[in-house]
Amino acid sequence: MSNKIPSNFLWGGSTSAYQFEGGFDQGGKGKSIQDTRTNIPQGTTDFKVASDHYNHWKEDVALMAEMGFKSYRFSIAWTRILPEGDGEVNKEGIEFYNNLINELLKYKITPIVTMFHFDLPHSLNLDGGWLNKRTINAFEQYAKVLFESYGDRVKHWLTINEQNVMILFGEIVGINLPKGGNKLKNIYQVNHHMMLAQAKAINLCHEIVKNGKIGPAPNITSVYGNTNKPIDQFAAFNMRVMRNWFYLDTCVFGRYNQLVINYLQANNSMFEYTEEEMKIIKKGKPDFIAFNYYASATAKMPESDELFDELPDQQKVKSVKGMYEQVKNDNLLKTQFGWEIDPLGFRNTIRELWDRYQLPLIVTENGIGGYDTLTSDGKVHDDYRIEYYKFHLKELKAAIIEDKIDIFGYNPWSAIDLTSTHEGVKKRYGFVYVNRDEFDLKDLKRYRKDSFFWYQNLIKTNGEEL
Ligand code: BG6
Repeated sequence: MSNKIPSNFLWGGSTSAYQFEGGFDQGGKGKSIQDTRTNIPQGTTDFKVASDHYNHWKEDVALMAEMGFKSYRFSIAWTRILPEGDGEVNKEGIEFYNNLINELLKYKITPIVTMFHFDLPHSLNLDGGWLNKRTINAFEQYAKVLFESYGDRVKHWLTINEQNVMILFGEIVGINLPKGGNKLKNIYQVNHHMMLAQAKAINLCHEIVKNGKIGPAPNITSVYGNTNKPIDQFAAFNMRVMRNWFYLDTCVFGRYNQLVINYLQANNSMFEYTEEEMKIIKKGKPDFIAFNYYASATAKMPESDELFDELPDQQKVKSVKGMYEQVKNDNLLKTQFGWEIDPLGFRNTIRELWDRYQLPLIVTENGIGGYDTLTSDGKVHDDYRIEYYKFHLKELKAAIIEDKIDIFGYNPWSAIDLTSTHEGVKKRYGFVYVNRDEFDLKDLKRYRKDSFFWYQNLIKTNGEEL
């Protein structure tokens, strides 16, 4: 058994279209819900220009190549391909990603494409969004166009980014889940429709893309009990299932986890599905699991009867009546934005995923958002980011070498600075600084941060020199 990371390991970085591309009204792009979003937190920018990658793509790919990227995980904007969500195909949109993919391949960077990353077409949303079955059919058409257009060169596909976050924390990432009616039932109905759309895309990929591989990309995390009281471990189990396994069990095993079904039935909120739909879901088996990890979570049993539909920050307290309450973990350090930092939790998460599913794994997000300062001589000293990566990569290496887990890539968030889902441009994640402020676009010039050179060396030594 080798004590090294495999030589074909996919070291890279990640972005998403609406947070990175900009060009919201260029090239025939239709509007997505991120363009029409009204709940942008005060003091933060919108997504219209973002990092203007749409007009800087060649330069951006060259920077990735200079870092030595072996892979680049990005999302395709659904509304660049199908401006209305379904129907007419936009040739200019097809061309944009053709050029991007060809440029990546020129540098031998493997494209890893997310099909849907929080940017539902606005026109589908007006028609009920994921609650309406039209969106399932639209996603199927979109998937077919993608596989037929790019499947000759793109062999790694991700279906839906963080479906679990959209279901559990929709509003903070700009998703308005259906209002009115039985909200709990509607949310899980949306989830079922996404599961079905995902399975149809997996099946289509297997039919159309020669040697194509496809998988889901949820946000997965280890969950600790707040104390060693049995009741806290009971709550941690509930949270683990409701937050993680419910989504992956459906995709990998083709069945809904009983714990969540019981919870929905007890709350008179069971969603509707047919046997035929479950057959499609069962057939749509993924080839690997992609996952995003930022921090672990800690749970206790809720003391009060708080309701499910409180919508907190991604890492603030969340309570699900009778099931679990997410609490802060005082043993962990925090980022400048208050997110917990838990490198060993990363390894715990990887171990749990492997133990449960025995499918190859790829990390599609991991990273730290913070304030960065551009010095007068054009440098960014982001030591805190390098530290974060060192500790997490030490655990990743241990998972590969000591635990012997099949992990084939690491694509942290983010390759280049972009706009955070709800905390603006000031919360920076990239190896490359993009010169703009929240509301002042400045010159959008790119600057290599200290972490750029550190990551470049890490890739060059295939993870040897942390
Ligand atoms: C993940 C998303 O939830 O976390 C990304 O897939 C997001 O889109 C990332 O940017 C970091 O979260 P935030 O809210 O700090 O941007």
